[in-house]
Amino acid sequence: MQIVAANFKMHKTRKETIEYLKELKKIDFGSVKVAVFPPFTALFEDELIGAQNAYPEINGAFTGEIGLEQLSEFNIKRVLIGHSERRHIIGESQEFIAKKFDFYKKHNFEIFYCIGEPLDIRKQGLKAVVEYLKTQFVGIDLNYDKLIIAYEPVWAIGTGVSASLEEIRETHSEIRKFTSRPILYGGSVKLHNIKDILEIENVDGVLVGSASLDVEVFKEMIKIAKDEK
Ligand code: PGA
Repeated sequence: MQIVAANFKMHKTRKETIEYLKELKKIDFGSVKVAVFPPFTALFEDELIGAQNAYPEINGAFTGEIGLEQLSEFNIKRVLIGHSERRHIIGESQEFIAKKFDFYKKHNFEIFYCIGEPLDIRKQGLKAVVEYLKTQFVGIDLNYDKLIIAYEPVWAIGTGVSASLEEIRETHSEIRKFTSRPILYGGSVKLHNIKDILEIENVDGVLVGSASLDVEVFKEMIKIAKDEK
C-alpha cells in the first residue's frame, strides 16, 4: 500500500481547501492511503484531513496553540509531528516533540512523524546522517501501530532539489533497521520524480509540500502511486 500525503503548510484558505477536497475525491484512490494537512483555519471533518501541528494538552493556557479539544470538534485523528520547519524555524526541541508524540499516541492518533538531517550533516556522509536521525528517535515509540515516518532531508524541502534516488534508498534502508512502520520520503517530490521515488525499496509513499498545492498535480501523483507496489 502506498501513502500519499499533502502538506499545505501556510497555504490555502478554508474555502480553497473545501474545493480542493471536492475535486480530489473525483478520482478513485484504489488502495492508496491519502492524507491532507491544511492550516488550522481550514480544518473540518473529513477522513482525509489531519493537523499540521497540535499542542500536547486537551486545552489550556497556551496562546496561539490548539489541542485535543479543538481537533476533536472536527473528529481529527491524524497529526503531523516534528516537521523540519517546526524544528528549525519555530525551534521545537526533541523533548517537546516527543511529548507531543506521547500525548497523541495516548489518544490513538495516526502520527506522521517527520525526521531529516540538515545539509552539513549530509555532507559528512551516511553514517553521520544515521547518527543524526537517531537523535530524532529519542522518546519516540517506533513500533506504534499508527505511526507513519516521513524522512525529509531539510536541504531538500522547498528547494526543488530532492535527494538522489541512491541517497533515498540508502537512508530508508537504514531507517528500516529501526522500525517496520511505513516510511515516506519528502522533499521536493514532483510529478517528474515521484514514480522513481516510489519504486525505491523501503519507500512506502511520499509527503508532498509545494507540488500538492495544485490539486490536478496531486491527483496525478495519486494515480501514479496506484500503479505502484
Ligand atoms: P516540498 O515540502 O515538497 O515543498 O519540498 C515537503 C514537506 O515539507 O513536507
